[in-house]
Amino acid sequence: MIDVKNLTVCYGSERALDDISFTIEKNTTCAIIGPSGCGKTTLLYCLAGLLAPMAGSVLVNEQPIQGIRKDTALILQDYGLFPWKTVWKNVSLGLQVRDMDKKQEKQIVGAILSELGIEQYKQKYPMELSGGQKQRVAIARALALKPDLLLMDEPSSALDAITKEHLQNLILKLYKAHPMTIMLVTHSIEEAVFLGQKIVIMDQGKIKTILDNPHFGDENLRNKQDFYNVCLKVRQCMNSGDQDE
Ligand SMILES: Nc1ncnc2c1ncn2[C@@H]1O[C@H](COP(=O)(O)OP(=O)(O)OP(=O)(O)O)[C@@H](O)[C@H]1O
Ligand SMILES: [Mg+2]
Repeated sequence: MIDVKNLTVCYGSERALDDISFTIEKNTTCAIIGPSGCGKTTLLYCLAGLLAPMAGSVLVNEQPIQGIRKDTALILQDYGLFPWKTVWKNVSLGLQVRDMDKKQEKQIVGAILSELGIEQYKQKYPMELSGGQKQRVAIARALALKPDLLLMDEPSSALDAITKEHLQNLILKLYKAHPMTIMLVTHSIEEAVFLGQKIVIMDQGKIKTILDNPHFGDENLRNKQDFYNVCLKVRQCMNSGDQDE
C-alpha cells in the first residue's frame, strides 16, 4: 500500500527527512514515534501529498503520489474543524464537495455520527464541544469519505488520560469495522503499542528502528504483561545510542 523509498525533505538547509525507506501493507496500521522535531509531521505531509519529496519517492498502491489523493484522509493535530459550521455540516462537507445526492449524504452522515457516539451534538458548533468530542467529529468527517488510507497526527495528544484511552479504543474498533490502512504519529509509547501493528521509531530525520507488534488488535492489551514488554522494547529502542546511557 505504502512504499517510501529514500525519501529526503529539506526546509532550507535543514534536512527534516534524511533518506527514509519503509513499506506498509494494505489494511494494516503503523505508528510513527520519535522526539519533537524528528520529522514525524513532515513524513505524514509527504504521505498526504501536501509536501513533495526533494529526493526519493512515496508510492501509494504502486502509484507515485501526485498531490492530494481522493481516498486519503488526514486528521491534523488541531482537528481542522470549521468553527462556523455545526457538527453535522463539518462531517457532511466532504460529501457535498463530491456532489453526493442529499438522501445518501444524510444516511452516511447519520450512520457515522451514531457509530462515533456524537449524534446528540449534531447541531452544536465545535467551540461547544470538549477536546475528545471534537476529535471524534474530525474522525467522523474523515471516515464519511470512506478512505482507504487514514493519516492522523497525534490524535490524542490534547486529551486527558482517560479520554485518550477511550479514543484509542474507538480508533481500534473503527479499524476493525472498516478495512483501511492507518498511519498515526504519536508522542506516546502506549499509544504506539496499542494502535501500531508496525512501530516506526524516528530520530533526527532518520528511521532508528521498525518493530513489528505481534499483540496489536487485542482490545484488552493494556491489562496484559505483553503490552508492557513491548512498551519497554520501544522505550529501549528510542533511548539506544543516547549519551546518558
Ligand atoms: N515549515 C517549516 N519550515 C522550516 N522548518 C520546518 C518547517 N516545518 C518543520 N520544520 C523543521 O523540520 C523539522 C521536523 O519538523 P516536524 O514538524 O516534522 O517534526 P515533528 O517530529 O512532527 O515534531 P513534533 O513532535 O514537535 O510535532 C524540525 O526541526 C522543524 O523545525
Ligand atoms: Mg509534529
